Amino acid sequence: MKFFIDTADVDAIRELHDLGMVDGVTTNPSLILKSGRDILEVTKEICSFVTGPVSAEVVAVKADEMIAEGRKLAAIAPNIAVKVPLTWDGLKTCKVLTSEGFMVNVTLCFSANQALLAAKAGATFISPFIGRLDDINLDGLDLIGDIRTIYDNYDFKTQILAASIRSPNHVKDCAMIGADVVTAPPAVIKALASHVLTDKGLDQFLKDWAKTGQKIL
Ligand code: E4P
Repeated sequence: MKFFIDTADVDAIRELHDLGMVDGVTTNPSLILKSGRDILEVTKEICSFVTGPVSAEVVAVKADEMIAEGRKLAAIAPNIAVKVPLTWDGLKTCKVLTSEGFMVNVTLCFSANQALLAAKAGATFISPFIGRLDDINLDGLDLIGDIRTIYDNYDFKTQILAASIRSPNHVKDCAMIGADVVTAPPAVIKALASHVLTDKGLDQFLKDWAKTGQKIL
């Protein structure tokens, strides 16, 4: 399973990139706002060291304008995936941009039928939002499983990019279900390394080591 980092914070991406944890990056208008950066500048900076897909989202709502925005975003770097919302205009934009050879990430997916439409429109990635479904007492992981089944039934090549990831358990569950990619905030990726028994075991080893009076270096 690939790890995309869900942020426009360049320092946070770079730290995980240096550890080999970054297969790609996703951004959205809210993350651009949080970064305080210009979308074109920050996306270009991310693409200067991330070689995998970097999603940059259009903000127009009409297909013609979305297509124009998408072409401008795609011109930033060859590894841009243009992110479009799952609306009819977004699907039309997806069809046009993928036929021009660009990667497209169809976002704001909350149902299996929406994911089916995105695949038929040629999407490179579909982004089902797990956390936001959980927020309204629905099961985001069920959606990932349904999309996996449908895509496998018909051999769709669209990659399932599980988004709105809120916890380490979301990551594990997506891996078990067979999502192709998870995009998670840096804090969630870092939390994957944490285990109370690791901390406890290390503490004991260090105490016992101190008692030996030895040094390695
Ligand atoms: C990624 O593509 C999405 O924009 C993001 O994962 C949404 O996450 P949130 O629901 O935590 O804002």
